[in-house]
Amino acid sequence: MNEKLKTADSHFAFGENWASYAHLIDQSRLAKAREGLVRLLGEDGLRDKTVLDIGCGSGLHAVAAQALGARRVLGVDIDRSSVATSRQVFARMGTEAQCSAQECSVFELENAGLGQFDVVYSWGVLHHTGAMHEALEKAAGMTAPGGTFVFALYRKTKLCWLWKVEKRWYAKASPTAQRMMQRLYIGMMRLAYWLLGRDFKAHLRSYKEQRGMDFEHDVHDWLGGYPYESISPAEVAALMGKLGFDPVRSFTRPGGWAVFGSGCDEFVFRRS
Ligand SMILES: C[S@@+](CC[C@H](N)C(=O)[O-])C[C@H]1O[C@@H](n2cnc3c(N)ncnc32)[C@H](O)[C@@H]1O
Repeated sequence: MNEKLKTADSHFAFGENWASYAHLIDQSRLAKAREGLVRLLGEDGLRDKTVLDIGCGSGLHAVAAQALGARRVLGVDIDRSSVATSRQVFARMGTEAQCSAQECSVFELENAGLGQFDVVYSWGVLHHTGAMHEALEKAAGMTAPGGTFVFALYRKTKLCWLWKVEKRWYAKASPTAQRMMQRLYIGMMRLAYWLLGRDFKAHLRSYKEQRGMDFEHDVHDWLGGYPYESISPAEVAALMGKLGFDPVRSFTRPGGWAVFGSGCDEFVFRRS
């Protein structure tokens, strides 16, 4: 593994995208983020719990965890812009007393003196760290005995190799080239919807149902999210078993060709 890939300098500018997205956060997106957490953890899965959100991005899901009764939520992110945005979102949503954010890579967590947490949450993050297996191990290690580790990772598809090449290019491309790529991608998607007789506008209208996210920001994140790795549910199960975790639930889909890119499979494990 190339150690340089683990540094923020070699990463896509995730934080800039989250800073732009954060202006859209309102009560309705927060409600969708809460639904996303309830789906994974149940209505009371966060009540009175300490929560570590690794790769907190915009901070939205840390706020949602607090709204579901978490006692204390710490968001960490390697990108200082994500950390600044999360702090602004905590202040705007009035959750500063329970939610905090700090700049820290998943690879530095064990030496950061943070202790362990009842719930470790890391949605769509560990495949972007440059060393996914090691990152999974480090994140798992932050879970207290009997605690819950929740994460989402890109599923393995037949075209992951192609997207890896595209993302490496896009992450370093000029803003003009990135905009052109976005237009091409969205145009192709529109065409595919039309050919399949599906309603693209309805897809856009319902997009925020997906954890409170936004289509255009997600397109930028998808096209540029580098480093990039992916994993199959069987590989996840084997790795987590070795780390001493038992499966609780998962939401997975077949990989296949996934022409417009992979999606995230979601996993919930308990530390035995
Ligand atoms: C696709 S975003 C996901 C954000 C958020 N978890 C969500 O679900 O909306 C990935 C985030 O992981 C962060 N990240 C990437 N590598 C990291 C690392 N080594 N340690 C901590 N965070 C990292 C990025 O800066 C980015 O904010």
